[in-house]
Amino acid sequence: MPFAHTHTAPEPVPQNSTNKPLMIWRDQFSTHIPSIDRQHKVIINHINKVDIAARKSNAHLELSHVLSGLISYTKIHFAYEEMLFRTFKYADHDDHVVSHTRLLEKVIWYKNQSDNKEQDIAKELLEFLIYWLRHHILEEDMAYSHYLCQKGAR
Ligand SMILES: [Fe+2]
Ligand SMILES: [Fe+2]
Repeated sequence: MPFAHTHTAPEPVPQNSTNKPLMIWRDQFSTHIPSIDRQHKVIINHINKVDIAARKSNAHLELSHVLSGLISYTKIHFAYEEMLFRTFKYADHDDHVVSHTRLLEKVIWYKNQSDNKEQDIAKELLEFLIYWLRHHILEEDMAYSHYLCQKGAR
């Protein structure tokens, strides 16, 4: 048996063969402000598209496209939240705006890294997007929920 000691390489397992979404909306994410919840659902959809693109090897063009989509929509959403803060005189307006600016800068930085193919940012990018959901949507946005609801934001 000349090949008795030949090792068979294990079959590669596709990382995301099912294209299962990274994030799924849950009721606990609700700010109880319908317009904001609708926008957060759109952001989650954009993040899921980024996740799918980031997992593909050699997908710079697609990643660039989906990150552009996320950035454009995020600008609209942040401007909308900030308009509500001004309208209803939300006390933590300034800190929240700083947080928005940092998130936007960071996602733009990732897009530039990806466009310039400077390094493989996929893993770090996905961790950042999960952080975005957990820290910003589920903590910082929740902080305004009660106040803005009471003031009549819908
Ligand atoms: Fe938000
Ligand atoms: Fe926000």
